[in-house]
Amino acid sequence: MSTCYLNGTFQPLEDARVSPMDRGFLFGDGAYEVIPVYSRRPFRLAQHIERLAHTLEAIRLPNPHPAGEWAAIVEEIVARNAWDDQSVYLQVTRGPDTKRNHAFPAEIRPTVFLMSDELVTTPPALLATGVAAVSAADYRWLRCDLKTVALLANCLLRQQAVDQGCAETILFRDGFLTEGAASNIFMVKDGVMLVPPKSHLMLPGITYDVVLELAARHGLPHEVREILEDEVRAADELWMTSSTKEVLAVTRLDGQPVGDGTPGPVGRRMYGWYQDFKNTVMRGG
Ligand code: PDD
Repeated sequence: MSTCYLNGTFQPLEDARVSPMDRGFLFGDGAYEVIPVYSRRPFRLAQHIERLAHTLEAIRLPNPHPAGEWAAIVEEIVARNAWDDQSVYLQVTRGPDTKRNHAFPAEIRPTVFLMSDELVTTPPALLATGVAAVSAADYRWLRCDLKTVALLANCLLRQQAVDQGCAETILFRDGFLTEGAASNIFMVKDGVMLVPPKSHLMLPGITYDVVLELAARHGLPHEVREILEDEVRAADELWMTSSTKEVLAVTRLDGQPVGDGTPGPVGRRMYGWYQDFKNTVMRGG
């Protein structure tokens, strides 16, 4: 049984209740974060709290907690759950209203909810083969930089992959790569790592930042620039990155092999650097 946090109270997840008049339920009006926890230490917690603050500010939802309080709630959720490695989900909505009304309530009582699950990273067998992806047109809204709970488009797009036995849907807008349905996408061509720049068209991933930092630290040639769909289809390597998937090779796209169809050398090196970095951060606290 897992323990969650709802509006100031830690309780069993099965007992938690929110109103059907909550704007998170009625309008998808809220922000969220997914924070990986390794050996009971939240990974890049300050950056997750900062990104949450950015989303809340952009959607005009007053942040219910200063950073220190957020950190304390996350630490407490981690302590109250059984697993050493966890995936903490954090959500803030604009709370309940008395009537359904698109405009904000006069008085806002945000709903703050956190839950945790065991973090299961990619098994070695899947790391060895990589995963398959499909592609689709990115028809989401123009504020994909915000981590909001209104994820219907992302859900529909991810389901397209699952329907075809694939792990992710890689999105293109106007002939350019944006990201995955729930991940950022990197590619490698002739030994150079390429990734699109942060913009309103993609989520600024915490893992994306870590990967770029590791590339700089280890002297891996890389460019942050717009990437054409044709370049993605001719890539030597493709990877998806996220807090839960870490760095995972995409070895087939729309039924075609990516490069030679196996995880490539640059991605394998990046995966190793990521694991080393994670372990250093865990040991360092
Ligand atoms: N999703 N892009 C999208 C659309 C995402 O949903 C995510 C993560 C990412 C990667 O961000 P990060 O590296 O900070 O996890 C990029 C989370 C894991 C989710 O919705 O479950």
